[in-house]
Amino acid sequence: MTAIIDMHSHILPGLDDGASDIQESIMMLRQAHRQGITEVVATPHHSGQYQNICPDRIRTMCRRLQERVQAELKTEMTIWPGQEIMYSEEALSMLDQGNLLTIADSRYVLVEFMPTAPYSYIFRAVKDMILAGYRPILAHAERYQALRENGRLEELKGQGAGIQLNFRPIGGEWYHETTRWCRKMLRKGIVDFLGTDMHNTRERSPETENAAAWMERELDSRYRESVLMGNARQLLGKKKQE
Ligand SMILES: [Fe+2]
Repeated sequence: MTAIIDMHSHILPGLDDGASDIQESIMMLRQAHRQGITEVVATPHHSGQYQNICPDRIRTMCRRLQERVQAELKTEMTIWPGQEIMYSEEALSMLDQGNLLTIADSRYVLVEFMPTAPYSYIFRAVKDMILAGYRPILAHAERYQALRENGRLEELKGQGAGIQLNFRPIGGEWYHETTRWCRKMLRKGIVDFLGTDMHNTRERSPETENAAAWMERELDSRYRESVLMGNARQLLGKKKQE
């Protein structure tokens, strides 16, 4: 089983529409661990509905959850602090003021948009974030209608954006449009990171197996290793959350 770093998850209890309590967090991580996930970036929402503007609280929760996992699952999993930020100019200045979190205190930021956001808006946001010194990573890039048009993902990547897809649609049925698009982008080699986007232990649990099986069959092993682990490993740098 290939080791996996999960770049997108809602495992911290009570902060958003993710885990409801610490028991559920641990159960989600148990499921994830069984699928080969060894490190998880916790990315609670910052959006109109879920503010989460206390970075130290998120950092502390990650450390505590990591300790609990070690004690209860008898295994080491690293839980990195991060956030999934709904883009706005205001969010960008909050990031500058240190009120929102980048991924593991790097310059990389997991950023999302409304699914119907126009391409011009996403393009401008990517540019503005880069000008401000960040490296935006587009969260679940398969979700935006505007990015389905040929060449657009490549153009954003050319501007300096990182591309994250969710595992679940990659592992879907071949005739689903989103699954086909995700696989096409992977075959082109323009995807950088993958995430479970896990929210609970039920319909939004970690589900990597179908995607991993497809990737095993269809992608060359070097690229597969880089999207499952290598690119994230490089971004995160050191191996342990202290
Ligand atoms: Fe998410």
